[in-house]
This record gives sequence, C-alpha cells and structure tokens, in this order.
Amino acid sequence: MTIYKFPDNFKWGSATSAHQIEGDNNNDWSEWESKNANLKAQKAKEKKWPDHILSNYPNPLQEENYISGKACDSYNRYEEDFDIAEKLNQNIHRFSIEWSRIEPEEGRFNEKEMQHYINVVKALKNRGIEPMITLWHFTNPVWFAQKGGFLNIDSPKYFTRYVKFVVKNLKDQVGLWITFNEATTVYSGHSYLKGLWPPQHTNILEWRRVNKNIVRAHIQTYKAIKEIYNHSPANLESFEVEPQRFLEVQPRDRATSHNVEVGIAESNSFNPSGNSFYERIIGRVYNYYRNLFFLSAAFPYYDFIGLNYYNLDRKVPGSYKSVPKQDWYMEDMGWEIYPKGIWHVLGQLKKFKKPIYITENGTADSKDLVREQYIKEHLKWVWRAIQDGVEVQGYLYWSLLDNFEWAYGFIPRFGLVEVDFKIFERRIRPSALEYARICKENTLQI
Ligand code: NOJ
Repeated sequence: MTIYKFPDNFKWGSATSAHQIEGDNNNDWSEWESKNANLKAQKAKEKKWPDHILSNYPNPLQEENYISGKACDSYNRYEEDFDIAEKLNQNIHRFSIEWSRIEPEEGRFNEKEMQHYINVVKALKNRGIEPMITLWHFTNPVWFAQKGGFLNIDSPKYFTRYVKFVVKNLKDQVGLWITFNEATTVYSGHSYLKGLWPPQHTNILEWRRVNKNIVRAHIQTYKAIKEIYNHSPANLESFEVEPQRFLEVQPRDRATSHNVEVGIAESNSFNPSGNSFYERIIGRVYNYYRNLFFLSAAFPYYDFIGLNYYNLDRKVPGSYKSVPKQDWYMEDMGWEIYPKGIWHVLGQLKKFKKPIYITENGTADSKDLVREQYIKEHLKWVWRAIQDGVEVQGYLYWSLLDNFEWAYGFIPRFGLVEVDFKIFERRIRPSALEYARICKENTLQI
C-alpha cells in the first residue's frame, strides 16, 4: 500500500450546478427541453439500452427524462444536501447561481431569490463548508437568449450587471467566484458549432463571436468583482480584449487579492497526438482551442484556474501511437477514461502560474462499481502533479448528487449520492464513504 499525503489546507469537496439540481427553473434550457423531449424519447427507441438504465426512473424512453422539471428538488432540499456533504467530511462546495431566478426580466432583480442564495451560503458556512460560486453554468434567462445571448455585442454589459448585483449581496460571505463554467471549451461549441444544445446553431462565425464576447464578459466581471471588494486591479497590465492567437502566453504575476479570488472553470481533456510534424502541429492547434483558448485570451484576469477533467480525447491524428486504446470507458457518456491525463493537463496549466482547483472530476456509474477506483486513480495523478510543482489547492468531485445531465437527461448518474427522482430520497453510495475517508485524512492510500 502506498500513502499519498496531500498538502495542509488542501480543500476537499464536490460540485453541482443550479439547473441540474434545483428544479423549477425557467430559462432557455427549460424552454428547449419542453420543445424537444418528445423527439428525444422517440429517437431513444432506436437504440438498445442496458436493463439497469431502463429500470431507472426516468428512463430514456420517457419524455420526463429530457425535462429537468423538479430535478433533485435541491432548491427546497439544500439543507439536507449540505448535511450529507458535511457528513462526508467535505470542506468546500461549488454550486451555481441561476441568472434567470435573479433577473427573470431584463433589469428587474428579484430580492427574494437573492435571499434564497444568501440562505444557501449561510447553510454551507454553518456546516463549516466554504462556498465556491459559479455565476454562469450553461443557462441563460429567456430575455437574454431572445436578445441573442452571447452573440449580442452588449452581452458583457448585461452579464456584468447581473454579476454586480449578486456579488454586492454576497461579498461578506463568499471569497471564491467562478465567472463562467466551460463556456468556450464546451458551451460555445455545443450551442453554436455542433448544434447540440440551445440555440442549436452551426455557424463558425457565431462560435467565434460568442467566444469573444464571453472573454470580454469575463474580463469586465473580473474587474467589477475586484472593485466591489475594493481591490484595484491596477497591478494588472492594461489588456487588449482581442483573443490572443499565440500558442504560448508569457506568465505574469498573479493578481493580488486578499479576500476574494475570481477564476474560470474550463473543461480540459488530454489530447494526445502522433509524433510526425503534421500530427504535432494539428495537436498544438487543437489543444489550444480545446484547452487553452479562454485561459490565454483572458490572461492575466483570473486569480485561479478551475480544471474540469474527465477524459481522453482522440480527435488529433496519431493519438493511438502515443497512447494505446484504454479498456476503461464511461459507457453512459462514451468517454475513454485515462487518469494519467489529469497529470498531463495539470502540467500544461503550470505555465499560467495561477493556483488550480480541480473543480470537476467524476464518473457516471449508477451501480457504483468503479467510482471509488476512478477517484483514487485520478487523485494519485493529482498528487504526482503537486510533487512536480503544480499548485493544486483542492479537489471537488462531480457531483454531490445524481442530476440532470443536459441533453442526456437523467441517464448518467454521477452522484456520490444516489437520488430517487420520484420521491427525491437521497442515498449515500459506498464510494462516497471511501472518498469521505480521503477527505478526512487528507491522504490517499492505495
Ligand atoms: C461538466 C459540466 O460542467 C457539468 O454540468 C456536467 O454535468 C459534467 N461536466 C458531466 O458531464
């Protein structure tokens, strides 16, 4: 048995997002879900599903599967959820605020919903759990989507106005903010290039425009949040908003922040390439757009990097020559699992010279057969990266609860805690207890 001790003050926790767990949201996603659920359920009939998925509620053949609906009902049950997180020895928790609740109509801010999130933060702090808040996790208010969402040149202005309202209300309670979740690594591609998510566009120019506006929105909100906490971002060099086209960035000093840190969470995959000149060039360009675009373009306007790591990506030619086919697949998502990839990706992020939180890492495993092993194998490589000088400050498993997995609906079960979507009962999975032991001892033993 080997013992891997993590640094003192390393944070341990889990993550969720509003639309995936709260229930009863009214945003661009909920609109899209109700329009598409029937078609999706019909299409699902063309596929052969394993029995364990068909016996779940809801199952892929039912329309309910594709409608977030009550989700986990966490809007009402967050105290129960945080009791579980506390019991599992977690000391940090990442969740998101739903913009459409806070600003349901343009310019009209809902104080009652703001109070709800103030209560959520208090509930975490009462349990000794530090809140890490994501301000945007894939969903938009309907009015904002109708204005073109992040295609709109004024989108940074709308987003910053919402962020200022939220941050002013929570600044004494919260010190860790994430502006955008997987905005340019997943969202813009799924929604504007591949046509998979609302608004289902397939236009490369729109994709570029959305990416650019999101970078602008991030930088504006970063500065606005710093100002609210009375930090002048003056020590940062003035910065051209135009995304950088270089593959490398020059690391500069981290922005000083005494009680607030503002970061970005992006999904980085490990994208091995072959060794020929042509394969390596494609590899570098792909890797830049897949993993580094936002972090390069927004540099140096973030205090930490949130890394969401899940899988190996085979899009670069020649990848099998450098990393052979793995036996380990996350069937529900069709992802190839490669724990060492987290070490590669962390190494790649080192050049930005910012601290890193693993803001997501997890597996869909409804029978809980491999989750424990998944967590441990990834943690082993996180530990290795720390020994190699990468400043990793915490690990947040995705997700605390089974939840609504976007276009897949409720099929993939990522939770440390199983949720019965009929009666909303929570059941802690055995792997969660193993993870709880690691959190408590700040040590991994395998
Ligand atoms: C990343 C996303 O942030 C989250 O919403 C999603 O559920 C997980 N990955 C799993 O796909």
